[in-house]
Amino acid sequence: MKLLVATRSAHKVAEIRNILAGVPALELLDLDTAGIAPEPAEDALEPFDSFEANARSKAAYFRRRSGMATVADDSGIEVDALGGQPGVRSRRFAPLPGDAGRDEQDRANNAHLIERLTGTEPARRTGRYVCVAALADEDGREFLFRGIAEGRVVEEVRGSGGFGYDPLFVATDLGRTFAEAAPREKDAVSHRGKAFRALASYLLSR
Ligand code: IMP
Repeated sequence: MKLLVATRSAHKVAEIRNILAGVPALELLDLDTAGIAPEPAEDALEPFDSFEANARSKAAYFRRRSGMATVADDSGIEVDALGGQPGVRSRRFAPLPGDAGRDEQDRANNAHLIERLTGTEPARRTGRYVCVAALADEDGREFLFRGIAEGRVVEEVRGSGGFGYDPLFVATDLGRTFAEAAPREKDAVSHRGKAFRALASYLLSR
């Protein structure tokens, strides 16, 4: 089976390829390999207040453009002391111009999160990463798979692996930040690992 991985994030593509590497007879194509060029309309694909609705929107859009079975990932970090923010707005948490690069935006997001939590005591710095993988299959039917990784946000960045908020997020299951973990260690306990392994189980059961 061919499956289009519909994300413009090279980090997400790499993680999803690793997580799904053992699934037999599954050929993953990313948007570049599939020849699907970026369109301005893509910036408006995730206006909703739930990971589920945004993931479905992205999967349906790229399924229409490609004609292929498509999976999209919508994910983010919910911080309890911020009432669950940034949540579905994690990618653009720090106010920067829309054309800022992803790495620049990630650095600004981390600085913004550190600042917003200044003075918050360790016990109140809990939160979680959430990932919803939406599958729009060959027949246009939709399926959702949700994964969660609990943890807490530390006061300073630690480690150089991963992406996004990983240097600030100590995963409860690892006792280290995701940026301090090897990719395989992160995938074993991460929100994305859980969501995409659930997708893999579904694909294998069909
Ligand atoms: P999306 O592209 O709307 O799904 O936004 C996802 C955003 O959530 C990313 O840009 C990161 O800021 C954050 N995020 C999601 N998953 C991860 C992760 O595994 N590590 C670090 N940050 C993540």
